[in-house]
Amino acid sequence: MNILKTEENNMHIGLLTGGGDAPGLNAVIRGITVRGKMRGHKITGFLRGWKGAIENDAVELDLNMVRDIHMEGGTILLSSRTNPFKLENGFEGIRKTCKDMRLDCLIAIGGEDTLGVASRLNGEGLPVIGIPKTIDNDLSATDCTFGFDTAINYVMKALDMLHTTARSHERIIVVEIMGRHAGWLALHAGMAGGAHVILIPEQEFNTDEVCDLLKKRYSEGNRYAIVAVAEGAIDPKLQRHVMHSAEKDAFGHVQLGTGIGIGEVLKNEIADRTDLETRHVVLGHVQRGGSPTAFDRVLGTRLGVKAVEMAEQGMFGKMAALHGTELVAVELEKAVGTLKTVPVEQYDAAKLFFG
Ligand code: F6P
Repeated sequence: MNILKTEENNMHIGLLTGGGDAPGLNAVIRGITVRGKMRGHKITGFLRGWKGAIENDAVELDLNMVRDIHMEGGTILLSSRTNPFKLENGFEGIRKTCKDMRLDCLIAIGGEDTLGVASRLNGEGLPVIGIPKTIDNDLSATDCTFGFDTAINYVMKALDMLHTTARSHERIIVVEIMGRHAGWLALHAGMAGGAHVILIPEQEFNTDEVCDLLKKRYSEGNRYAIVAVAEGAIDPKLQRHVMHSAEKDAFGHVQLGTGIGIGEVLKNEIADRTDLETRHVVLGHVQRGGSPTAFDRVLGTRLGVKAVEMAEQGMFGKMAALHGTELVAVELEKAVGTLKTVPVEQYDAAKLFFG
């Protein structure tokens, strides 16, 4: 192995995992640690996302601590939705930690919220690098995020299984799938798992049209159906029945999946309007759990290695991103400016298979 290791090049690299966890996080942590240690860098993992960076709650990572962790879901560094800019002295705490620890670089692994903070911190002069993560796949400036592949495969398997029970009982099953603002997960898993209707946040739907489609399907002798609905999908006329917890997280998001979600509301409406036997399932947090697919293990590992290379080259304010099969450095600002949502053409292609 041609490993360049010189004392004078040694860096102190910090890292953290923020927001909802996603399978592949441990692969990134391992990638950063292995690449970093081989170059003689000191690697510090902050616990519970930005909370650990504010409070200087951290562990020093070595090769033993990350051995084989790429096979496991979750994050050994724990995660939280702490927003430093919503806390008094949050930003000052992070600045102090970076100074006290003599950090040369802080790698933030997260989605829109975590990387939004990273981008702001970089604007304040801190040396930050981002790595894109989310099962929602809604980050811009990268072709996809790790965690998404594992989640779609899980949801696809759930839909596969629901087919057999729905068919046996001649029922409609409405399946609520994660995705508040973007319907990538519902769309791709729904397509792969043979959902007969897919509803996503990007395209408002009309429940009467959904019911007509289901009745037609039954009248043609296909006496069961799977409806895949993203948790953020909207029929404006049904919205008043959807009741989420009043609590918002530190980034201002309502907590979907609590209270009565669109899956349950839609199930009730379909049952009332069609007289067909209908059930609903909220897949919930199992969609984020379990061990990562090979794709997410490899992507996570590559992103971790890439981020350390970027740190060595002083590429702060940037995010490691997947473009085609290559990893590239893009401006963090470009990743967090607007969410990547499902284009109407992709949804229209999926609609060909409805009913
Ligand atoms: O951002 C990932 C995600 O899983 C969303 O799809 C979902 O709406 C949200 O997190 C759930 O958040 P929490 O884990 O705080 O309930």
